[in-house]
Amino acid sequence: MISIKTFFHQASSTISYVVYDAQTLDAMIIDSALDYTAHSGKLWTEFADQQIDFIKENKLNIQWILETHAHADHISAAHYLRAKLKGKIAAGSGIKKVQKTFIEFFNLSTDETTGPEPHFDKLFEDGDSFMLGSYKVSVLSTPGHTNDSVTYFVDDNAFVGDTLFMPDGGTARCDFPGGSASVLFESIKRLHDLPRQTKLWMCHDYQPAGRELKYQCTVEQSRAHNIHVNKNVSCDDFVRLRESRDKTLDVPRLLYPAVQLNISAGRLPKKEGKGRRYIKQPLFFVGEIL
Ligand SMILES: [Fe+2]
Repeated sequence: MISIKTFFHQASSTISYVVYDAQTLDAMIIDSALDYTAHSGKLWTEFADQQIDFIKENKLNIQWILETHAHADHISAAHYLRAKLKGKIAAGSGIKKVQKTFIEFFNLSTDETTGPEPHFDKLFEDGDSFMLGSYKVSVLSTPGHTNDSVTYFVDDNAFVGDTLFMPDGGTARCDFPGGSASVLFESIKRLHDLPRQTKLWMCHDYQPAGRELKYQCTVEQSRAHNIHVNKNVSCDDFVRLRESRDKTLDVPRLLYPAVQLNISAGRLPKKEGKGRRYIKQPLFFVGEIL
């Protein structure tokens, strides 16, 4: 059985995983996070360093640093981890569309965002696979929350990113550029068609009604009990529910810094002036402001 170590990043309610073959010690990290406070611009590596400590203590060889999608609520530690541990950074090939959208939105330099330095070492297509020790890891394209969302499937475990939440959490919003509730419904159907005992591992848990942290359920439990998409909910009903909910949501607190950095796998912007780095914050005028 493949080994899975879970790390919970409290500030962003993100669950990050170190997945490894205990025989060969080959390992991968899924959905890493940097620590960040938006109001002060402080960025630090306490959470990522806990993972590094675990990896070193267990003498793991990091092969891959994976993203399930370009996150809008936390900043990826992929670049930091690659610098410390080696391994290849990878995501779904849909990230190219996300990059294009946000390079335009923020008026970023294409060179700085997508090249010439390879921010991602590999972009996966649907159906791609690779070996982690003696285990085959398959990549399933599961867009809808974002158009680059993928699920990593290994040894009866599916790391689903934000394609599903725990049954009592329902689903993630679909109103980011490239998101689509009907596409998400199809992706969830794809996950719900996996063998019933497959374990689904979530990227977030917001602990609805103050319950204890949970981040893993089976396909069977999700199909039966997910409050948004279960075996009794039609695509039309889900789209209506999801879209009406999304209309009420404000932008995520860390949307602008997160997507700006995550389209480059958490690579920091170049230093300017006296050696400081900056992120952009768009302004939206309401009414007339001179
Ligand atoms: Fe997300």
